Formats: sequence, structure tokens, C-alpha cells
Amino acid sequence: MILVTGGAGYIGSHTCVELLQAGQAVTVVDNFCNSQAESLLRVERITGKTLTVIRADIRDRAAMEQALRSSGAQAVIHFAGLKAVGESVENPLAYYDNNVGGTVSLLQAMQACGVKTLVFSSSATVYGDPQRLPLQEDHPLSATNPYGTSKLVIENMLRDLHRSDADWRISILRYFNPVGAHASGLIGEDPQGTPNNLLPYVAQVAVGARTHVNVWGNDYATPDGTGVRDYIHVVDLALGHLKALERLRQHAECRAINLGTGTGYSVLDMLRAFEQASGRPVPYQIAGRRAGDIAACYADPAQAAQLLGWRAERDLQAMCQDAWRWQSGNPQGYRSDTSNA
Ligand code: NAD
Ligand code: UFG
Repeated sequence: MILVTGGAGYIGSHTCVELLQAGQAVTVVDNFCNSQAESLLRVERITGKTLTVIRADIRDRAAMEQALRSSGAQAVIHFAGLKAVGESVENPLAYYDNNVGGTVSLLQAMQACGVKTLVFSSSATVYGDPQRLPLQEDHPLSATNPYGTSKLVIENMLRDLHRSDADWRISILRYFNPVGAHASGLIGEDPQGTPNNLLPYVAQVAVGARTHVNVWGNDYATPDGTGVRDYIHVVDLALGHLKALERLRQHAECRAINLGTGTGYSVLDMLRAFEQASGRPVPYQIAGRRAGDIAACYADPAQAAQLLGWRAERDLQAMCQDAWRWQSGNPQGYRSDTSNA
């Protein structure tokens, strides 16, 4: 049994699909602050299997202990957290409380229940402004906003925890830029309000909900001047979690591993690929740089290949096609009329 915190969210729901399809029993804990219960109904529809859902906040330690005991979980995949960089600058305490405080509470509950296997969602944001590319796991760590700091604090906490008690088995997965959706078109990314991230914004332009994409800067030191990122299909990312769990069965370690493709694409590359996948125009305007953005960021995925036997298999076309299938079938996300979905 695997306990998945934040399992109703974007990456969590895709990981639940892969866990269930691999024959794992799954219990989700989510407070639905950034997701809809509908996503989990669709996970069940895709897989033809059921999972247990507990509506609880990870900051509620007693509820977490109860969830661990009642589920009989042997391991936890911990997605629950807040993730909007701009919001974290506006309201840092909410990020420290939810992300750091929530993780402390979860770890205390796990310790009390003797569950010491954890896969944690970290981010390439912990590398700060890259000093060299591609990013290897031993690149110096830094943070430029409270969201990033919260990930860095949690990473350090996990390393300290493992140093204090070598029975802990911890995989820190540093995601690059997750995009795309399940190939069924039934689950995908469902941002509330105006999307911050590029691909959901582009998808809303293609579907006609927004007029154009603002390209945040074309004067970076990149091939076409626009920002370069390592976009990774969310299903590949989900599969990386299963590989991480497999490795932890054999290794009592605390290790950070990049989950990326190793290839960087620019904003303009992404717009063109999306136009091709959707058959719709994606108008854009060049705007000024977004505060805090970096020029380029992509992974060295060698460690994941070597230690997990994992590599990303879905290409840019699949990322855009799957994102488009989700967006066009569910123009209002999970709030769309689903009667014919
Ligand atoms: P998401 O917002 O879609 O999912 C997070 C889920 O956690 C949501 O269902 C939300 O309701 C739940 N949640 C939040 N706080 C909670 C709490 N206190 N108690 C219980 N549930 C809570 O986000 P996502 O894109 O699926 O991201 C999952 C994880 O991966 C996050 O930790 C995020 O920081 C990390 N990450 C995401 C990205 C990305 O670009 N999506 C990149 C790097 C890392
Ligand atoms: N961009 C635009 N217009 C938009 C949105 C984005 O031009 O409307 C550009 C950005 O300037 C950047 C690229 O598209 O060059 C990607 O931007 P995203 O916001 O999609 O992703 P980021 O790389 O900025 O940030 C993401 C997550 C962060 C995480 C970081 C590193 O949103 O939470 O990856 O993992 F910290």
C-alpha cells in the first residue's frame, strides 16, 4: 500500500494511474486546496480500479497518523504542497507553513508509525541560476524565492533525518518542467485562474479562451533569445516515481535524482510545436522579462538512467498532443460538462 499526499493534483493523479496499473494499492490524502475530487474519479475510470481517498491536511499530524495506520501504508509519495512562485513571494508564511510545516508533520507521523520510506517532490528550482549546464545533482543549491527555499529547506531536513536514522529510505526527485496529460485525455493540469506556466497558457490560447501568449523576453543568451527549459511529459515523470520506489526497496539511502529529458526547448519552439499538435494558431507578443526568470535550465538525466533504469520516452510532439487532447476535451478543466467526456 502506498500513501500519496496531494494525489488529486496534477502530478499526483498521473502517478496514481501508474501505481494502480502496476498493481499497487493506493490511499490518497488531499485537502483539495488546489484540486478537484473529480480527478480521482477519473483515475478510477482510466484504470478500472479503486483507490481510497482521505480528505485531510498534511499539517494535521493526528490525521496523518490515522491515515498511515488505517491504510497500512509501507511508503509515502509526498506531492502535497503549494507551488506558485509569485504567490510565495506575496505570502511566504503560507508556503513555509504548508510546505515546510506540512512536511514536518508528515514526517513525524511517519516516524510514529514506523513508515520510513519516502519519495519527495523537489524541483529544479533548487539549482537557482545555473552555473553550468546540463544540471547535475551535485550542482550548488540555492533559492531565489520562498517557494524554492521551502523545497531547499525540506531537502536539507530529509538529509538530516537520514543522517540521524539510517533506516530512512528517501528519494528526492528534482522535477524539471512537467507538461502534457494522460493519453486518455481524462486527466491533466487544471490551473485555477490565469495559468503561470507556459504550456497551460498556450493551451488556453489555442482553445480560444485567451487571445495571445506573452513571451517573457527574447533577449536571453539562448539560440532564439527566449527562455529554454527541459519539458518532461507528466506520464514519464509519474513512472519515475515507481522506479524510485523500486530502488528504495533495495537501498536505505537519501539521494536526490533529476527527472528531466536532458533536452532544452525555447518558448518559441514550444509555441510552434503546440500549433502543430493542435492545428490551431497560437498568436504571441514579445513582452519584457519576467522577474526571477533564468535563461536556460535542463537536466543531466544520467543518474536517473543509471540508478533507476529510467529515462523519459515521450517526445515534444506527444507532450503537446496529449496536453491538447486534455485541453480541448475539458476546456474548463474538471469543471467542464463531463457528461459526454
Ligand atoms: P498540484 O497543486 O496540482 O497538486 C498538489 C496537491 O496537493 C493538490 O491536490 C493540493 O490540493 C494538495 N495539497 C496542497 N497542500 C496540501 C495540504 N496541506 N494537505 C493536503 N493536501 C494538500 O501540484 P503538482 O503540479 O501536481 O505538484 C506536485 C508537487 O510537485 C508539489 O510539491 C510541487 O511543488 C512539485 N513540483 C511541481 C512542478 C510543476 O511544475 N508542476 C515542478 C517541480 C516540482
Ligand atoms: N513563459 C512565457 N510566457 C508565459 C509563461 C512562461 O514566455 O506566459 C516562459 C518563461 O519565461 C520561461 C518558460 O516560458 O522561459 C517556462 O516558464 P514556466 O512558468 O512554465 O516554468 P518555469 O521554468 O519558470 O518554472 C517551473 C515551475 C516552478 C519551478 C521551475 C523549476 O513553475 O515552480 O519550473 O522547476 F520552480
